[in-house]
Amino acid sequence: MAKGKNTVFYCKECGYESTKWMGQCPGCRAWNSFTEEPAAPKSTKAGASANRPGLPASVPSSLNEIETGDADRYGTGFGELDRVLGGGIVPGSLLLVGGDPGIGKSTLLLQVCKNLAAAGKKVLYISGEESLRQIKLRANRMGSFTGDLTFLCETSLDVIDGVITQRRPDVVIIDSIQTMYKDEVSSAPGSVSQVRESTNVLLQLAKGYGISIFIVGHVTKEGVVAGPRVLEHMVDTVLYFEGERSASYRILRGVKNRFGSTNEIGVFEMGEEGLAEVLNPSEYMLNGKPEGASGSVVACSMEGTRPILLEIQALVCHTNFNIPRRTAAGTDFNRLNLLLAVLEKRLGMHFSECDAYVNIAGGMRINEPALDLGIMLALVSSYYDREIDEKTIIFGEVGLSGEVRAVTAADQRVSEALKLGFHTCILPRVNLSRLKSPEGMRLIGVGTIRDAIEAAGLRGQR
Ligand SMILES: Nc1ncnc2c1ncn2[C@@H]1O[C@H](COP(=O)(O)OP(=O)(O)OP(=O)(O)O)[C@@H](O)[C@H]1O
Ligand SMILES: [Mg+2]
Repeated sequence: MAKGKNTVFYCKECGYESTKWMGQCPGCRAWNSFTEEPAAPKSTKAGASANRPGLPASVPSSLNEIETGDADRYGTGFGELDRVLGGGIVPGSLLLVGGDPGIGKSTLLLQVCKNLAAAGKKVLYISGEESLRQIKLRANRMGSFTGDLTFLCETSLDVIDGVITQRRPDVVIIDSIQTMYKDEVSSAPGSVSQVRESTNVLLQLAKGYGISIFIVGHVTKEGVVAGPRVLEHMVDTVLYFEGERSASYRILRGVKNRFGSTNEIGVFEMGEEGLAEVLNPSEYMLNGKPEGASGSVVACSMEGTRPILLEIQALVCHTNFNIPRRTAAGTDFNRLNLLLAVLEKRLGMHFSECDAYVNIAGGMRINEPALDLGIMLALVSSYYDREIDEKTIIFGEVGLSGEVRAVTAADQRVSEALKLGFHTCILPRVNLSRLKSPEGMRLIGVGTIRDAIEAAGLRGQR
């Protein structure tokens, strides 16, 4: 880009503006993050809401005068999505949906549009990426559409602003923010200033008219939404749609939510007819678990308020390298090293002569400490080549001295296991005192990793 008076430099990470290039951003300390772009005209920066027709003048209000409108929350037709949103869509909110290319963002939002329109909402789907024909092709996969749902192929924010102001829909989808541009900003769509200005316009529309706007955002190689970080600050809710390319399930994760918890996840499965909710993820995750195999353990992780059973697989074999190999798929690599060190030190097992591989089957990524005990018993099971009873579930955090520490929501984990036909549960002794043993489930409380190995029937010679 030619250097001129009217160009400025923006930090790609945080949107920091500078008149000269800098190696390190003073705002967020990121290195080499400045790009040169034409300066945004000052007129677009703020105050546009004041000119919008039909908006009340700005008058200060007391808390008593303000209506929360919490009762106005409405469902999306997907229980999984509603839970991630904290109970449904809040009118006037701005939601950012990020995710890898082709993961199913447009599919999810089109299905949400379908459900909302069928529930009587006025919905406008604006695509800057696909033609109406392509949208129709996708819609054909999903069955029949009813209600007030309209589509628009447009990338100019000024035109979009006009259409929204005139039609006043309840919900708008913008697919995607990186394709939108504002005339006054001369840089290319997707640039820092364009993304920031476009989001600003959408923010004013959302807050001004009480329209809920879903914005699709592409993610960068590092897995964060492309564009300045300020984009995430400007919106009310940030959701990430993620999944393994090889697996058909997708996970929707809340990263930021001004109206609810960010612990919850929603699980979906991509199929012929679009996305379907996975109401019982545990059953889904345990599908295909091998019978009578050593190194396989069923553990339980809490994702928000929901327990999910999953299979941990470990493979321990003699190493052919000077430095033994360790691989952790779906869990934290450093945590695996730490757990191996505890086994080595506290139990005298010789993992330094072995390669160790751990995998969370199904492609889930979990970092919860409650999986520690499961990972360790899977390693020990593979080390001794002895299987653990397949109807046993295991959870507990393990400390550096080999003690098994309490975990949260033990009762929920136990009842989830009971629901799926498990009859034995190895859990922290501290949790046991506060649990009533449910019928059909044998609870074995353990205080140390040594007790746990005993309880799992793994004592033995290699
Ligand atoms: N007929 C089909 N049956 C099953 N799955 C399909 C079918 N057609 C498309 N898909 C799935 O839908 C995905 C595309 O979804 P979608 O276009 O919603 O993704 P996206 O996240 O919006 O992508 P982009 O980043 O390109 O906008 C494909 O990767 C594929 O997995
Ligand atoms: Mg798309």
